[in-house]
Amino acid sequence: MDHESGLIGILGLGFLGKELAGLTAWKEGSWGSWHSSPVMSCSLDQFHFNWQDSSSWSGIPKLPVVMVFTIPTPALELEVIAEQLRLWKEWMQEKRPMLQRLILISTTGVYPKKEGIWSEDSNFEPDSDSGKRRLLVEQELSEGFQLQLIRPGGIYGPGRNLLERLKSGKSIPDTGTPTHRIHVHDLARITEYCILHPQVKLINAVDDEPCPSWDVVQWLLEYHPEARGMHPEFPPQTEKPLFQRRISKRRLEALGISLEYPTFREGML
Ligand SMILES: NC(=O)c1ccc[n+]([C@@H]2O[C@H](COP(=O)([O-])OP(=O)(O)OC[C@H]3O[C@@H](n4cnc5c(N)ncnc54)[C@H](OP(=O)(O)O)[C@@H]3O)[C@@H](O)[C@H]2O)c1
Repeated sequence: MDHESGLIGILGLGFLGKELAGLTAWKEGSWGSWHSSPVMSCSLDQFHFNWQDSSSWSGIPKLPVVMVFTIPTPALELEVIAEQLRLWKEWMQEKRPMLQRLILISTTGVYPKKEGIWSEDSNFEPDSDSGKRRLLVEQELSEGFQLQLIRPGGIYGPGRNLLERLKSGKSIPDTGTPTHRIHVHDLARITEYCILHPQVKLINAVDDEPCPSWDVVQWLLEYHPEARGMHPEFPPQTEKPLFQRRISKRRLEALGISLEYPTFREGML
């Protein structure tokens, strides 16, 4: 089995891609792709790859690896995305037939922004344009690859979190519903689990304590040494209760995958 050889290929060495690259000693020949500029201090072989430019596709090595696709979905028309995916799949089947296993990092954003508990086996239709685009990518890539899907909540970790937003005076997102999060290190560990367990076809990746971003900010102001003394402008209190949209983490628990950062408290200190 290719995963036993410890070979991976990461399409998109971004926030998660870099964390995954550094998670363990991947076997020599494992690779990652860069888009805008090469990634410093990454032990994997690297090449330039632009998923939307077919002239760059031949950079993908021919070794059989488990690929992890972390590239975000561009905000294009559904037909344009579908056509792009069709071209890439055809190219891969013809030129890289040895690369069949693909782990797609999708998003909990495919689930509707409605009250309810959304689990991996829920029947649903996305109600946002970005959710529709991402579900299309899931569906298109499930044909042509042995696909495994991970749907993470908001990915945070060192250098990308609400404390950083506070420090740089950026706005704090207020979604009117509890936000689901996952620490980038835990997401990399869940991805590794999927690499080792091809039978996992779909899994939500969220931590134990979804809550509004402003609750996290409140906690930071109280307990985080770097946030004490800050005075961000809180949004006006509304009478309207938050609607309870929950992303299930039952499957994560059933598989016995524990989190090193079960809530933002561990993740942000
Ligand atoms: N961030 C979140 O809170 C969140 C939540 C749920 C799901 N997700 C999804 O999870 C995945 C991983 O997230 P992340 O935070 O690691 O994303 P990220 O930091 O933006 O990394 C994405 C990587 O893909 C590369 N890329 C972008 N466009 C590309 C293209 N056309 N061709 C090839 N490479 C391209 C980026 O390179 P450049 O930076 O050089 O363009 C970057 O290396 C993404 O698909 C994201 O949409 C993210």
